[in-house]
This record gives sequence, structure tokens and C-alpha cells, in this order.
Amino acid sequence: MIASGDTKVFPLELERSYPVVVRGDGAWVEDSTGKRYLDAMSGGSMAATLGHGRRDIIAAAAAQASRLSYVHNERLTNPQREQLAAELVEIAPPGMTRVRFVTGGAEANEMAIQIARAYHVERGETKRWQVISPAQAYHGPTMATLGLTGRPGLQAPFGPYMPAHRHIPPSTWRFDPTGEAALEALDLVLEEIGPENVSAYFCEPITAAALPAYSPPERFWRGLAERRDRHGFLVCFDEVVTGIGRAGEWFAAEKLPLAPDIIGTAKGLGAGYAAIGAVLCTDHVYQAFAQGSRRFTPGHTWDGAPLSCAVGLKVLEILHGERLIERVRVKGPQLRDELANALRGIPMVREVRGHGFLLGVEYVDPRDGRSFLPPELGVARRVDLTAMDQGVIVYSTMPTRDGFAGDQTLFAPPFTTPDSDLSEMVVRFAKTIRAVAAQVQTELR
Ligand SMILES: Cc1ncc(COP(=O)(O)O)c(C=O)c1O
Repeated sequence: MIASGDTKVFPLELERSYPVVVRGDGAWVEDSTGKRYLDAMSGGSMAATLGHGRRDIIAAAAAQASRLSYVHNERLTNPQREQLAAELVEIAPPGMTRVRFVTGGAEANEMAIQIARAYHVERGETKRWQVISPAQAYHGPTMATLGLTGRPGLQAPFGPYMPAHRHIPPSTWRFDPTGEAALEALDLVLEEIGPENVSAYFCEPITAAALPAYSPPERFWRGLAERRDRHGFLVCFDEVVTGIGRAGEWFAAEKLPLAPDIIGTAKGLGAGYAAIGAVLCTDHVYQAFAQGSRRFTPGHTWDGAPLSCAVGLKVLEILHGERLIERVRVKGPQLRDELANALRGIPMVREVRGHGFLLGVEYVDPRDGRSFLPPELGVARRVDLTAMDQGVIVYSTMPTRDGFAGDQTLFAPPFTTPDSDLSEMVVRFAKTIRAVAAQVQTELR
């Protein structure tokens, strides 16, 4: 364990001690004391979708690095960038025809906002800049992506830098089980700011940490599509987590009755072996530039570098060759059922949700089975620390002060995790939750 007193690193939580992870193999990681953990969070952030220590990806990266590691994308291109763009278009939802590479999720989302805004400007609709998005979300830590959430807890102390985008409440069982209230909220915002000023509706098709494995009801998606047609804004999907297989399809958009105009994706594209993300757009978005200024300048030094694109190509080859998207699609519901069975009868557990290998557990106050747990109990933190003691890594959040969600846990193992390791993750996690639930019952008495 390394605590903040022993390190020059500026960590997330200054009073916390961090296990020093020194190696990984498959769905396991090992710390410097020799303790082994089952990685039910794909490297902690849902990125390591193919598990740890993949020799084939490492070999592909080494071969590319020795041939050509890096060239900048502005005045040069490279075969790996060209091929990866072509392969992404092949697996993307129909209509997506162009790809811009970035180096991570927040960059993908920020680039998506920029493409949406520039699209309208190219078409002469220069007033369109505002973005509407669900309040309960996470799209990244940059100023622009923080501005896409409506969570004061995340935005503080950066409020003065936040753009004045608008937000609607999530249509969860608690607030809006049918999706109608969210549509009414959307209509109200459109009326207030004027649809002619709206650039995009921005959301995760299936939410990750902010509301694990939650997706609005079908009624909402259909209503959103109607409003897009009526008002001419774009729909941008943050598929930073759900893209490249996590939800049992190449992109979660495939499951919905609404095709997005722009998709940002990242984590699973590099699978934890390279920092790479991508923004995909439909032909009609691209044509605004093709028939307009014929330029779109935002970019970063590492966008589309040969090394990271070679890793992306190998990742896609493995996903195809090992039929891993199919595995996630078939195994995901079984895993959700296994998790739900293991947690059955714990009054603090309200719901176990799942889409492929993106699963979420929502906790409530056991006294009424409905309210958020009192924040001072710190249940999310206890779950994560107890899970670490049990040798399983999960990721819990407690965004209660934002008002839309209470304590919850994400469970998102690598797609390659053997069945026996998945079952062991469930066993260790259930032990964790039973231990925390017992403490909570005692303290609430
Ligand atoms: C849904 C979602 N969007 C965006 C991001 C930001 O990605 P990055 O950390 O790569 O910038 C994350 C990171 O966890 C995420 O979960």
C-alpha cells in the first residue's frame, strides 16, 4: 500500500492508501505484497476489456513501434490509422462513414461537441451552440465535458468555467419510469432556450458509473428522435464505455430505436494497451464540411498515431476472431442473473441491472426499500474497500448530493474472463455486500 505521505504522486483521495499493482494476467492483478485481486472492473475503469497480459497485443505493439511508432496526423497519415478507420466504419451502426481519432474518452466527447457545433456553423446556422443532456451522467473531466453533466458535485469548484448547457432529469424508476417526464422536461428546455439555438442532445445510450447499466425506456428514445426531426439538432452518443462490445453489440446504439449522428468511443478500442479513442459521424454530418469550408482543425498530438492504431487493429482482430461480442451478448444476461441470485434477500439491494458485461447494483435504505442511503454511512466507499479485502475490484459511486442517484456499484469484467472467474467474482462480491449490509443494518437501528 502507498499512502499520500510516501509518494510524489498527486492522488485522487489524499487520505487513502493505494495498493501498488505490479502485474496482471487475464482477469487477475497482483499487488506488490503478492495479494491477488479478481478484476471485475477491467483495469478499474472498464478499459481492459481483453484482460491483462495479452502477448498478442503486446507483440503487435512492439512490431509497430519498431517499424514506426509515431507521426503526427495533420500533414501525414499512416496505414494503421487508415485501416482502423475503415474497420470502425464496418462495425459501426449503419450510416456512420467517417472517423476522427483522439486519445481518450473526454477528448472523444469534446471533439463530438466541436463537430456538432461546427456542422451547424458550416450550414449557416450559427446560433446553434447549446447542448441538452441528462443531468445524471459522466462524460469526462475537461471543462467542456463537465459542462455536459448536471451534477454540481462533479462540477465544483469549476462552476465559473462551465458553459451554460441545459439538463433534464434521468427517467429512472424513481423519477420517471415511462420516459414521459424526461420528454416533457426536454420540451420545456427546448421552449425556454429556443430550438434554433440547440446544437445537440448528448447522452450515454447506456450509462456507466453515473447510473450503472441504466438506459431510458424506449418511449424516450422514440420521442427524442421525433424532436430531432422537428428541431434539427444532432444526437451525440457517448459510447466511451459501451462502444467496442461492452454491452453485447459493437455499439450500444444498435440496440436503440434511434440512430445517433455522432458517436464518441474510447476505452475498449485500446483495451488498456494504448490510449486511443475515436469519434464517428454520419455522412450527412461529414457532408456539411465536405460541401462547406472543407476543414475541421481541432486535434491532438497523438491522434491516430501508428502505435495506438496498431493496438486498435489487434483489439478488433481479437474481438472478431474469438467471437467475444457474441460471448458478452450471451453470457451477460447469465452473469446478471447469477449476480441477482447471489444478492437476493439483501434489503439494501434494490436492483441489479445489466447490458452485456456492463452491470450495475443499486442500493437503497433498507428501512423503506426506496430512499437513498444516508450519505454519512459512506456505503459506496465501504463496498469498494471491503471488496478489495475480499480480493475483488469493483467501482462504486455515491452521487447522492446531486439528487438523482444514491449509492451504486459497477461490475464490468473483461470479456475474456473465464466462467469460473466470473463465478468467483460474484461469490466475493456477494460476500462483500452481505458484510456491508450487516453493518448498515446495525448502524441504522
Ligand atoms: C461514460 C464515460 N464517458 C467519458 C469518460 C471519460 O473518459 P476518459 O477518462 O478516457 O477521458 C468516461 C470515463 O470513465 C466514461 O465512463
